[in-house]
Amino acid sequence: MRLKSIALAAVVGCLGLSVAVAQEGPQVQRQKQMKAVGGALGALGGIAKGEKPYEAATVTAALTTISTTMKAFPNQFPAGTESGADSEAAPAVWQNPKDFHAKAEKLAAEADKLLAAVPADQAGVGAAMKALGGTCGDCHQTYRMKK
Ligand code: HEC
Repeated sequence: MRLKSIALAAVVGCLGLSVAVAQEGPQVQRQKQMKAVGGALGALGGIAKGEKPYEAATVTAALTTISTTMKAFPNQFPAGTESGADSEAAPAVWQNPKDFHAKAEKLAAEADKLLAAVPADQAGVGAAMKALGGTCGDCHQTYRMKK
């Protein structure tokens, strides 16, 4: 009896989870992705500024997050998600999808390049930050609305 109710609770738990995921539209998804990218850049920034010790594993993890996230990010803008969930995406995303995708790919490619030769010390991470950081503002300027 007890086992049965545990199993049932597990099933109900899983159902609850899938409902929650289904309710998260692309607007929420892409904002989460940007937060992840922001967090990854922040981790690199901590090392670059000397607030955190250099650790190759941390650098690799941050670059991997940026690379994989930026490959998925531009696909989170299907028609009909121009607004909602406090989205700050600008109409330009849907007007110039090719350029928008290219800008996302540029950042992913930059991260991949760095992953191929992971920065080996604080100064290297600082240089990587500069290479990556420029691409954020370059896209936000056109494709993210200021609120
Ligand atoms: C290809 C374009 C593009 C690039 C490159 C890009 N972003 Fe964004 N970013 C956006 C768009 C579009 C939004 C608004 C998304 C929305 O609200 O629907 C956004 C939103 C954000 C947000 C707010 C997320 C939230 O909480 O709603 C943060 C933080 C952010 N970006 C950080 C970064 C950082 C850091 C980088 C560079 C490492 C970066 N972005 C690179 C397009 C881009």
